[in-house]
Amino acid sequence: MGVFDYMEKYGHEQIIFFHDKSTGLKGITAIHDTTVGPAIGGTRLWNYENEEDALFDVVRLSRGMTYKCAAAECNCGGGKSVLLGDPKTVKSEAYFRAYGRYIQSLNGRFYTGEDMNINEHDCDYMVMESDYINGLANVSGNPSPVTAYGAYWGVKATAFEKWGNNSLKDRVIAVQGLGAVGYTMCEHFHKEGAKLIVTDIVKERVQKAVKAFGAKAVGINEIYSVECDIFAPCSIGAVLNDDTIPQLKCEVVAGCANNVLLDENKNGDMLMNRGILYAPDFVINGAGLINVYQEFFPPYNREATLREVEKIYDRLLRIYAYAKEHKINTQLAANKFAEERMALLKDIHANYIPNAKSL
Ligand SMILES: NC(=O)c1ccc[n+]([C@@H]2O[C@H](COP(=O)([O-])OP(=O)(O)OC[C@H]3O[C@@H](n4cnc5c(N)ncnc54)[C@H](O)[C@@H]3O)[C@@H](O)[C@H]2O)c1
Repeated sequence: MGVFDYMEKYGHEQIIFFHDKSTGLKGITAIHDTTVGPAIGGTRLWNYENEEDALFDVVRLSRGMTYKCAAAECNCGGGKSVLLGDPKTVKSEAYFRAYGRYIQSLNGRFYTGEDMNINEHDCDYMVMESDYINGLANVSGNPSPVTAYGAYWGVKATAFEKWGNNSLKDRVIAVQGLGAVGYTMCEHFHKEGAKLIVTDIVKERVQKAVKAFGAKAVGINEIYSVECDIFAPCSIGAVLNDDTIPQLKCEVVAGCANNVLLDENKNGDMLMNRGILYAPDFVINGAGLINVYQEFFPPYNREATLREVEKIYDRLLRIYAYAKEHKINTQLAANKFAEERMALLKDIHANYIPNAKSL
C-alpha cells in the first residue's frame, strides 16, 4: 500500500518521513487527527524488518491514540513516531538531540515522549532541543503506577456494572502479567481483600506475588481457564481470541493491556454473547495518557491528576449504558463514544482570530 492509501484508509492528516545525515536518525511521524487539539503519542524505537512494517505500525498506533485521547476526554489528537534502528547501537546524545530538533520543527503540532526502547534519559536529551516533549521524570514521571490506579478504578466500575456492587473483597481475580502495571494493580486488589490467581513468564515476579499477596500461581496457558470472577489481562495484546475466549470461566474481563481482542468485532461479540462484560482497553488503561496530559496545565499536581484518573469509573459506566442501549459490544461502544466526542468538537468554531494583534 502507498503512503496516501494509508492516509485515506485510516484518515490521517499528515505523515512525515525524516532523516538526519550526521547521526543516522531516521523515522516516521504520523499525525492522525488534530480536530480536538495537537497530536500526542510516544516515540517507539524498533528494528523493523522493512519500511512498510514501520509505516503500518505508526499508522495504526497514531490512530489508536486519537481514540484514546477522545475517550479520555483529553483535548489532544492522535500521533506517534517510530524510529527505525537497532536500540542496541543507534542511541546517543546526538541522535536524540537531532530527534528533539526535528520535533521542535513541527512547532507544537505533535507532542511526544517515551514508548518502547525510549526511556527518560533519552527524553532528557530530546527536551534540550524541544518544547514539545512530555512525560518527563521530573514532571509527571513514570506513568505505570497511575495507569494501574486508573485500571483499578476501571475494574471496580466494571464490577459495579456486572454485580451492582463495586467491592472487590473476596472477588477472585486472575491476573495475566505482573509487570510495571499488573503488579501494582495486584497491590490495589490485595489491599481491598481480593483473592488473586497470577501468572507471568518471569518466574521471580510470580514468586514475589505469591509471597506478597498469598496469590495462587498458575501456568501461562492455564490462566484462561481458571475459575474466577474477573480475568485481568495485563501483559501482551491479542490474548483474547477464538481459542481463548471459550476457555474463560469469568464474568468480567478488565485489565490494563492494550489491544486485548485479536478482532474487535468478532471477539467483542463472542464475549458479549457469553455474558462476559469486557472493559474496553483504551478506556480502562487511559490513565497514563491522562497523567501526561496534566503537564499541559502546570504546575503538575499528582493529587489533582489522580482525581482526573478516577473519572475512568464514570466514563466506563456511560460506555456500558451506551452498549446496552444500542445492543453492541463494549469495545464498539467505546469507539462510538470517542467518535461522538470528536464529531461534537468538530462543529465548534472559534469566534476570534487566534494570535491576532488587536487593532
Ligand atoms: N505502562 C503503562 O503506563 C501502560 C499504559 C497503557 C497501557 N499499558 C499496557 O499494559 C500492558 C502492561 O504494561 P507494563 O508497562 O506493565 O509492561 P511490562 O513489560 O512491565 O509488563 C508486562 C508483563 O507481562 C509479562 N508477560 C509477557 N508475556 C506474557 C504471557 N504470555 N503471559 C503472561 N505474562 C506475560 C511480562 O513478563 C511482564 O512481566 C501492556 O499491554 C501495555 O501496552 C501500559
